[in-house]
Amino acid sequence: MAKFLVQKSAPLRGEVTISGSKNAVLPIMAATLLTDEPCVIKDVPALRDVEVMCSLLESLGASAERDTDNSTVCITASGDISHEAPFDLVKMMRASILVLGALILRTGRAVIPLPGGCAIGKRPVELHLKGLKALGVVINEEQLARGVVDASADRLTGNTIYLDFPSVGATEVIIMAASLAEGTTILENAAQEPEIVDLANFLNKMGARIKGAGTDTIKIEGVEKLRGVASHHVIPDRIEAGTFMVGAVMTRGCVLIKNVLPDHLKAVIAKLRECGAEITMTDEGMIVRGDRNPINSTDIKTLPYPGFPTDMQSPFMALLTIASGPSVVIETVFENRFMHVGEFNRMGANIKTDGNCAIIPGGKVLQGAQVVATDLRAGAAVVLTGLVAEGTTEVSQIYHVDRGYENFVSKLRDLGANIMRVEE
Ligand code: UD1
Repeated sequence: MAKFLVQKSAPLRGEVTISGSKNAVLPIMAATLLTDEPCVIKDVPALRDVEVMCSLLESLGASAERDTDNSTVCITASGDISHEAPFDLVKMMRASILVLGALILRTGRAVIPLPGGCAIGKRPVELHLKGLKALGVVINEEQLARGVVDASADRLTGNTIYLDFPSVGATEVIIMAASLAEGTTILENAAQEPEIVDLANFLNKMGARIKGAGTDTIKIEGVEKLRGVASHHVIPDRIEAGTFMVGAVMTRGCVLIKNVLPDHLKAVIAKLRECGAEITMTDEGMIVRGDRNPINSTDIKTLPYPGFPTDMQSPFMALLTIASGPSVVIETVFENRFMHVGEFNRMGANIKTDGNCAIIPGGKVLQGAQVVATDLRAGAAVVLTGLVAEGTTEVSQIYHVDRGYENFVSKLRDLGANIMRVEE
């Protein structure tokens, strides 16, 4: 098993280029099943989740070819497509459920075994299924009780759908399905994340008619056929950018972040400024300075976009452990996303939790320790903590980090971080 060895480091300085967004590329890759023509996707990050999605599409009968530059992927789903997603791939990545709507449209049926609950919460799919049912999909309830989504439909018909919660995955599955349904679908209380907008832009390039993506009401006029896409650039990863922004502030450094869209990071920028960061946009990118002011405490509450992103909760908590005073973090998106608290406490953070609320006393001098990457973002967060802790921090279970941060170690090392990956 590989691990990271992280030493207390000098302030991060220099520049870092952000990769394409993991959470944008995965649904876009799933959407390629909606046509038998080739789709070329650019700025695809080299990540384990992307590899799993490529393998899933290949197992269903599509071809996925990476260009020599490794960041362009051409997916062609011509020929026979299978309706059955293999469990050994689905269990590696919950986002496999994103192929649900596209598979039903392509083959009339989709069989996807659901993995059990994961570390950060139950992550059910009832909203995806409720939306698809409203479009005419029939769900085999007996199979569902056994943990297998077995959904079928000969044709889909547009409808008005209200989501009880603005689920990102449900919004993506429903807009993919509604794109080829007969008539118009109105999706209310839809997720507004930038990744939804990127998917809608991609689908519109395929010939779909989607309006309102990025707001809470999305209108999809069904079309008869979708075509291939000659080129689509994936948006930059706002969570990777946010992680490096926090790293710059925590280490009291100064980092130029390239390939970043500040509009996608308004909540993170506002909170970092409250903490004392100086953030400016230039023609080259975003400059984040943490070397001019002390780190102030602040309170955060995670919310669906445009609120503070749950995926930035653990990196931000890492920062608050060394802020000048106490802070409160409230997690409202996932029911069990404080697994990292135990790891921060091993380093001396002394955080207390009560339900979905964490109280971080701040003002600590952290000590290096043996810690675990309890999930993808928490893995990055403990690495950042290791950069400011005395001595050595050993991070295990780093396969979580490989799922979502491209070249994490080399990007950090280029900024002066003292981190190395050890294969055991
Ligand atoms: C996506 C992101 C993930 C991010 C999350 C929230 C991808 C691949 N992953 O995950 O990084 O943390 O959005 O921003 O894009 N829920 C239900 N019923 C449902 C669906 C969801 O109760 O049918 C609940 C979930 O349990 C969770 C919350 O809604 O508590 C958010 O889930 P959702 O927005 O669906 O997140 P994902 O699409 O899984």
